[in-house]
Amino acid sequence: MDKPIYVLNGPNLNLLGSREPEIYGRTTLADIEAMARARAADLGLAIDFRQSNEEGVLVNWIHEAREKGSAIIINAGAYTHTSVALLDALTAAELPAVEVHLSNIFKRESFRHHSYISGVALGVICGFGATGYLLALEALKNALND
Ligand code: DQA
Repeated sequence: MDKPIYVLNGPNLNLLGSREPEIYGRTTLADIEAMARARAADLGLAIDFRQSNEEGVLVNWIHEAREKGSAIIINAGAYTHTSVALLDALTAAELPAVEVHLSNIFKRESFRHHSYISGVALGVICGFGATGYLLALEALKNALND
């Protein structure tokens, strides 16, 4: 069995669908998971899809991915803009990682323009809503084949 791609979601993303729909849309995290599972199956990839509101839990999951995963897709939510701990964990993981944001963070408040994790990501996808997760899977499919 191939190692799964860990798809990790950070704080407040459990509220997708009802949280600021003018920014994040009406798609729920369960909808995104279903879409990601379908695309992963098409691509022949296994995924492990998770969400936590706690920074330390996300750090622990990145450590787990380091041992058991092939790659990471991460929407770290607001921790993107604050967390050296997530940067350090992703650096230690030494796995291809794609940073995803539903919204275009560069069209928003200036504090969202800086990401601690972009510097260790293979790439960053933002502004395409749930489609970003599917694009990340396709990007990793190619990266893992290289
Ligand atoms: C987000 C963007 C972050 O700035 C914000 O804190 C989020 C969601 C996005 O997916 O657009 O919680 O990561």
